[in-house]
Amino acid sequence: MKIFLDTANLDELKKGAEWGIVDGVTTNPTLIAREGRDIKEQVRMICDIVDGDISAEVVALDAENMVREGRELARIHPNIVVKLPLTRDGIKACSTLSKDNIRTNVTLCFTAGQALLAAKAGAYIISPFVGRLDDIGYDGMQLIRSICTIYKNYGFQTQVLAASLRSPLHVVAAAEAGAHIGTLPFKVLDMLFNHPLTDKGIEQFMKDWHKVFQDAPVTA
Ligand code: E4P
Repeated sequence: MKIFLDTANLDELKKGAEWGIVDGVTTNPTLIAREGRDIKEQVRMICDIVDGDISAEVVALDAENMVREGRELARIHPNIVVKLPLTRDGIKACSTLSKDNIRTNVTLCFTAGQALLAAKAGAYIISPFVGRLDDIGYDGMQLIRSICTIYKNYGFQTQVLAASLRSPLHVVAAAEAGAHIGTLPFKVLDMLFNHPLTDKGIEQFMKDWHKVFQDAPVTA
């Protein structure tokens, strides 16, 4: 499963990129607004940090303006993926942009039926929101499983991006369900590293090593 960072914060992206495990970035209007910079400028800076698919979302609500904004966003950098909401206009804009070979990420997906429409419209990525479904008492991960099955049944090329992941357990379950991509807030990515037995093991290894070799390094 590819790992994307779900943030527009440059410091978080730099830290994640240094680990060498970040395959791409997703942003949305909330995340861009949080950084307080013009979207084009912010997204350009993100493209300089992470070499992978970078989703940038339109804010227009009608198809014509979504297509116009989408084309402008796509011109920023070859790695840009235009994010569109799963509405009638969003799907119409997705069909138009896909025909022009502009890659799209259809977002705010909450049912497998919606995901089917996005695939039919040629979406490059579909973003089902796991956490927001869990929040209202539905099984968000079941949606990932269902979409993966449907896409496999018909050979759709659209990649399933598990979005709105809130914990390391969500990430593992998304990978088990067969999601192609998981997008993680920086905090969740950082949490994936942690295990008390890893810390305890390092402490013990160091103690044993230094008992015999004091401050000697492994090699001279
Ligand atoms: C990413 O594409 C989504 O916008 C994001 O994962 C939503 O996450 P949230 O439900 O935690 O806001």
